[in-house]
Amino acid sequence: MNPLNHVAIIMDGNGRWGIKNKNSRNAGHKAGLKTVELIIKNSIDHNIKFLTLYAFSTENWKRPKKEINYLFSLLENFLKNKLINFNKHNIKLKIIGKKNFSKNLNNLLKKSESKTKNNTKIQVNLALNYGAKSEIINAVNKLNKQNLKITEKNISSHLYTKNIPDPELLIRTGNTKRLSNFLLWQLSYSEIFFEKKLWPDFNTNNFNKIIRKYKNLKRNFGSI
Ligand code: IPE
Ligand code: IPE
Ligand code: MG
Repeated sequence: MNPLNHVAIIMDGNGRWGIKNKNSRNAGHKAGLKTVELIIKNSIDHNIKFLTLYAFSTENWKRPKKEINYLFSLLENFLKNKLINFNKHNIKLKIIGKKNFSKNLNNLLKKSESKTKNNTKIQVNLALNYGAKSEIINAVNKLNKQNLKITEKNISSHLYTKNIPDPELLIRTGNTKRLSNFLLWQLSYSEIFFEKKLWPDFNTNNFNKIIRKYKNLKRNFGSI
């Protein structure tokens, strides 16, 4: 059976779920938060050590202001209300992406990271204002500045995900088959599962089924 240390998820389909069920995209974002909590719990049950969730891409700034503001207010409330639970369940939170939000939000993000930094059960990476291409460009620029060679190891160790093993498994919900600028470097050998269900409808059974399938795959890494 294949080991599983790191699962990455593109949580897609909130907007469509919201329109279909409540005639509001934002209602879908709210519903999606429940799935976030559920999948964190399920990941702990599976003894997964790293869970990376794509919450907001560098391209998502193209959305209407009303939706962007709502998303960030959800995030703010989530962090304010759930930080206690993160500590109770020994969950470490890390933000990956460029933290250039309002001063208040930047501070809240930093505080959430520092208050959970010694937790050891699972590390949840929240990809916020994250784009893989800019992540790679930043890494290469840092190497140049320090006069370091452009090697695979040096690039990996200058990404947001330094010290974290690459995801063995990527799941994208929402019936769309693309990567949308997510972890392009780190996913180079990941097993990819595209799930039809919209993120708010994604559940423990769906997650377990994917993990079962993943664990039984034959992974070649170029060999036979
Ligand atoms: C993904 O759901 C969540 C974010 C990008 C914040 P979407 O909002 O993209 O949902 P759809 O794809 O429009 O249904
Ligand atoms: C990817 O979903 C980003 C997140 C889930 C945060 P999108 O809905 O933004 O992706 P595209 O634009 O359809 O590719
Ligand atoms: Mg989408």
